[in-house]
Amino acid sequence: MARRGNSIIKGIEINEIITLLNKAYADEWLAYYQYFIEAKVIKGIMKDAAIAELTQHATDELRHANMVADRILQLGGTPLLNPKDWFTHTNCGYEEPKEFDVVQILEDSIKGEQCAISVYSNIAEITKDKDIVTYDIVSEILADEVEHEEDLQALHDDITEFIADIKKNIQ
Ligand SMILES: [Fe+2]
Ligand SMILES: [Fe+2]
Repeated sequence: MARRGNSIIKGIEINEIITLLNKAYADEWLAYYQYFIEAKVIKGIMKDAAIAELTQHATDELRHANMVADRILQLGGTPLLNPKDWFTHTNCGYEEPKEFDVVQILEDSIKGEQCAISVYSNIAEITKDKDIVTYDIVSEILADEVEHEEDLQALHDDITEFIADIKKNIQ
């Protein structure tokens, strides 16, 4: 635990920050697995572009889990030790892919990113001017989640447009 580092935290309980970070940590692992398995089972038009995007996101979510775990440890907390706890702590849950169609998978993933954006903007708001280090870390992750949403939405729009064009041409 960083004693001096933690002494600069003002106006917020360290335990409260650890609780928020552990919830986000659960989200990151579930998001990682969701992207990992989506990239495996996805089917349909332009799926290669989607696989590349989903795989990149999986890598990013795992990196986020790493960043959050390191901050929890600095604060003197313990990152969740049992995967069972991911489901009891998660904010965003886990969207089991039921239909493997590329458009459906992208829509599920966009929902997940929108939830992640809410989670990190909330932690940023709570830690602003109180815990500068956590604020910086969650702001960096937040920027990635915003980019994730944008990339998925752009790909989703390209694919749905492409499908609409094909339908028009065969009529
Ligand atoms: Fe993330
Ligand atoms: Fe993300």
